[in-house]
Amino acid sequence: MENMNKVLVTGASGFIGANVVGRLSTRYHVLGTYNNSPKGGENPDPYHLDITDKAETQRVIREIKPECIVHCAAIGTTSQDQYLTRRVNVEGTRNIVDCCLERGIKLVFLSTDFVFDGNLGRYREDAVPNPIEGYGQTKHEAETAVGKAPRHCIVRTSLVYGWETPSQHPNFVTRLIQEIRSKRNFKAFTDIFRTPSALEDILLAIERIIDLDHSGIAHVAPPDYVNMYDFAQRVADIFELDKSYILLGNSLESERERGKPKKLGLDSKATQGALGIRFRNLLEGLDEMKSSQRK
Ligand SMILES: NC(=O)c1ccc[n+]([C@@H]2O[C@H](COP(=O)([O-])OP(=O)(O)OC[C@H]3O[C@@H](n4cnc5c(N)ncnc54)[C@H](OP(=O)(O)O)[C@@H]3O)[C@@H](O)[C@H]2O)c1
Repeated sequence: MENMNKVLVTGASGFIGANVVGRLSTRYHVLGTYNNSPKGGENPDPYHLDITDKAETQRVIREIKPECIVHCAAIGTTSQDQYLTRRVNVEGTRNIVDCCLERGIKLVFLSTDFVFDGNLGRYREDAVPNPIEGYGQTKHEAETAVGKAPRHCIVRTSLVYGWETPSQHPNFVTRLIQEIRSKRNFKAFTDIFRTPSALEDILLAIERIIDLDHSGIAHVAPPDYVNMYDFAQRVADIFELDKSYILLGNSLESERERGKPKKLGLDSKATQGALGIRFRNLLEGLDEMKSSQRK
């Protein structure tokens, strides 16, 4: 992207945001924000920003004057606080969008396969969202708000895996490794399907989106469409874990999974074509994660 120098990353103390800062910093002047965890990211000098505070959002963005915002700040699927989830994911995103409208800033927004109903799986970029639970509803409303920004790209992804820092939340792969190495059973559901995405592919896609000034909807996902039991088996193969700790499960047994979509996952062929990149398959992604393990 021409005339692109300064990038602001919201949620830079989080799992994806911190890594976006690391990746883009080699090319751009990158500034990151945190809300409650100043030491959550690798950002040497992060800004405090609560995106639900409209005045603070305007002040920080006016002060930094970014040409692009990568908006990663959000409340995730595990929160039980629907009020906070809505305030951050919808109202907070609207505050960011208003600043982008006012200043003509490019907005790259991180979203999710939870915007779909989970009846079909492997949703394409042009599939019609139909969220069936709270988190997905807020992300869908946020996507609609982002669509009003003149220059925007919605980057949807699915069950991201990679190494987190101690202050960041674990993901399916790191939880599985931790549980089995601690000799604890891990129940994996055979009826929940996803396209687990390598963190590295999200970083690659965001970098290309900025370089090409790509707009619209982008999907980041591997070609592999797996249920959580098969995914756990593949992780165990790569990380040489004792598979006897992986138990067959069905989401009907789980209170937490009640009302959640079952067949999610994304088809990313159109995005790969448009960005001129190929996303890792599961084997490549997990292999690479293992090789980059901190000794
Ligand atoms: N991880 C996944 O598997 C996945 C899959 C699909 C889509 N996504 C999307 O990708 C994005 C990043 O996900 P993630 O897993 O990296 O999230 P995360 O680790 O939970 O980080 C969330 C970030 O949001 C910040 N935040 C929360 N409330 C805020 C507020 N009121 N104002 C400003 N910042 C606030 C947090 O800051 P503090 O910690 O400093 O409070 C943190 O930096 C999200 O939009 C998510 O919906 C993630």
